[in-house]
Amino acid sequence: MKGFRASLLRFGSDGQPGLIDDALLVVDAGLIVDVGEYRSVAARFPEVETFDWRGQVLAPGFVDMHVHFPQLDVIASPAAGLLPWLEEYAFAQEARFADPAHAGVVAEFFLDELARNGVTTAMVWCSSHEQSAEAFFQAAARRDLRMVAGKVLMDCNCPESVRDDTERGLAQSEALIMRWHGRGRLGYAITPRFAPNCSERQMRGAGELARAHEGVWVQTHLAEDRDEIAWVARLFPQASSYLDVYDRLGLLRPRSVYAHCIHIDDADRLRLTRSGAGVAVCPTSNLFLGSGQFDFDAAARTGMRWGLASDVGGGTSFSPFRTMLAAYEVARLSGVTLAPSTLWRRHTSDAAHAMGLGERIGELAPGMEADFVALDPNATELLARRTGIASTTEEWLFALIVLGDDRAIARTVIAGELR
Ligand code: GUN
Ligand code: ZN
Repeated sequence: MKGFRASLLRFGSDGQPGLIDDALLVVDAGLIVDVGEYRSVAARFPEVETFDWRGQVLAPGFVDMHVHFPQLDVIASPAAGLLPWLEEYAFAQEARFADPAHAGVVAEFFLDELARNGVTTAMVWCSSHEQSAEAFFQAAARRDLRMVAGKVLMDCNCPESVRDDTERGLAQSEALIMRWHGRGRLGYAITPRFAPNCSERQMRGAGELARAHEGVWVQTHLAEDRDEIAWVARLFPQASSYLDVYDRLGLLRPRSVYAHCIHIDDADRLRLTRSGAGVAVCPTSNLFLGSGQFDFDAAARTGMRWGLASDVGGGTSFSPFRTMLAAYEVARLSGVTLAPSTLWRRHTSDAAHAMGLGERIGELAPGMEADFVALDPNATELLARRTGIASTTEEWLFALIVLGDDRAIARTVIAGELR
């Protein structure tokens, strides 16, 4: 058992943010056992060995709902939109993950980078090579992380170096489920890349696998880019929409996470909502690739369960601060103003709920897993100055969102252990 003494960021049941100036968080066996005002919690745990981090602010670890670990070296690759970007950069880098040694080295760097940025859970895409997923899971297991990941399924319309065989890809996915899903805090996501890269047979097989393994996740891309959507309409003329392609093949269900969802109508938004699926909103990627703007107003109107995601390497930063700021700016372009506390929750508890993990992560409360960060509001001179004059917690959060970067993540704690 150990304690962490610092300030603490909390959200009330009405979603209002507040800071406890002097708080104590007590952890045992990877779980939070008590949290609140220092004086009252310390009275209940008088003997607990305590780290004194006063001056910093404890907050839940961030949840990145969509990120490609083999695209670490793709960040900052300019292209004329999604499809040329995939052809010119993404597939070429992912081809290198046939080599397990390369996959292992990049997995470690990637997980270090997540920790440095305060991201404690992510939905991670590996490459189409089974060994890339194996390398990722091994690295995540050694760090005792709560991570969801999967090997990409892609059996058509792509270079040989990243194409998998229809049946073998499915068999490898099932073998990875048996090996890794539910081991420690790891979960498996069946990962059909997107409808243009998967045969109907492979997607149907993925849907069958999802039905056979109920607790497993599904992740894919949906309606990100206009050229992509036109291609899907040509490939699947019988489908009533892009989402309909996935739905007919058994891929729309709770624990399915759809990335982007930009160019869709309200009928499909409601279909997503009713299915229990989650949506990963990736604003830095959508801006960088010029894909379009997520419609935050329509998402609210139709009750979509959404959370934020970096989508590295289409996305430009691992930092949740950059992603929250981009979401704010994109929303403003359509006249929507997202509150700082809303942005923060969309990258923590709401993201966890959209993944179906809201009972375990995303909040600092007794019984929740002890994955958290210590924020340093004085990490830079400007940040210190701006947070110092904030008169409300909303204002303080917004200063961090706009001015913060990995320097503001002083510490990252995983399952109660400092990383
Ligand atoms: N659609 C299919 N594959 C990808 C990918 O790797 N990144 C993004 N942003 N969209 C995709
Ligand atoms: Zn993606």
